[in-house]
Amino acid sequence: MTAPLLSIRNLDIAYPTSRGPARILASVSLDIERGAAVGLVGESGSGKSTLALSLLGLLPDDARISADRSDFDGHADILARSAHLRGTEIAMIFQDPMTALNPMFTIGTHLVDIQRRKFPKASRAELWRRGEKMLARVGVSDVGRRMRLYPHEFSGGMRQRVVIAMALLVEPKLLIADEPTTALDATIEAQVVEVLGQLRAESSAALLVVSHSFGLIAELCERVVVMYAGTIVETGSVDGVLRAPQHPYARALIACEIDPSSSFEDQSDLITIPGTVPDPVHRPEGCVFAERCPSRHARCVDAPPFVATGAGAGFACWLGVAA
Ligand SMILES: Nc1ncnc2c1ncn2[C@@H]1O[C@H](COP(=O)(O)OP(=O)(O)OP(=O)(O)O)[C@@H](O)[C@H]1O
Ligand SMILES: [Mg+2]
Repeated sequence: MTAPLLSIRNLDIAYPTSRGPARILASVSLDIERGAAVGLVGESGSGKSTLALSLLGLLPDDARISADRSDFDGHADILARSAHLRGTEIAMIFQDPMTALNPMFTIGTHLVDIQRRKFPKASRAELWRRGEKMLARVGVSDVGRRMRLYPHEFSGGMRQRVVIAMALLVEPKLLIADEPTTALDATIEAQVVEVLGQLRAESSAALLVVSHSFGLIAELCERVVVMYAGTIVETGSVDGVLRAPQHPYARALIACEIDPSSSFEDQSDLITIPGTVPDPVHRPEGCVFAERCPSRHARCVDAPPFVATGAGAGFACWLGVAA
């Protein structure tokens, strides 16, 4: 069996604050196999972007990062070196394409410049040709003319296609898409999802799709990781988790999404998941979801074990352990 492309064990990320350290990620372990498509889902503030940005070395300087292991493509300790892999081995598609584009430069210049680190010996003409080809591949027509336009001359959906083209041009081994369609309207969103789906079928890159909803992840990924308050509470196949979520948080998240107005079996009080994510400065010692959990009981004051349910699936809850 070959080693996973990415393998992280017990990743902790904290920020110093005047009230003490804010623990944003706590003991996160994650494997991504080569070429796999994995979704990372969880409500706002759960730490999804923090995890994604740590892989790219893009967290602020005061972030305190520690992990027992962080291997990428045969190299150890990538969290310390991830800035070197950014734009060569790991590429990112951000939520708002404008943040990735400089208004002063043409689309063509963006597509050329992004390739320079990965292909330092190639000529500008060669990189331009590759850029033009990739732009056509992500569904932009009339590329000869459009390469010479500026970002503001593109619509939001077209800009996101440019950003996807930029990410693919470096031929990354891992492509991270953080809420790639949140800034787009529904029609454009469907088009961008289609482009991502096509590229997924054609490219050998692994894909990590970050989203607060299962919808996008179900379209693009086979596996899903559910995150709550900086911990992974459940992981498994998208089909398996959607059909039979085991962790009470995953159940609530899916129930909210499938039909926000319906009652969810006997847990209708959870439909909007009342309560808030725990304060990262005062994380509970035991289960982080206990305060909001309809199934909470005495054991939840202790941190639950991760219960493996086979085929890489599992969940972190005492419900999986015989009393
Ligand atoms: N530089 C920082 N200093 C202190 N806390 C931070 C910093 N950056 C992020 N956080 C906190 O980390 C937590 C997780 O943030 P993160 O952006 O990773 O969440 P997310 O799951 O991506 O949310 P969203 O769905 O809204 O994008 C939040 O509580 C946020 O306030
Ligand atoms: Mg985010």
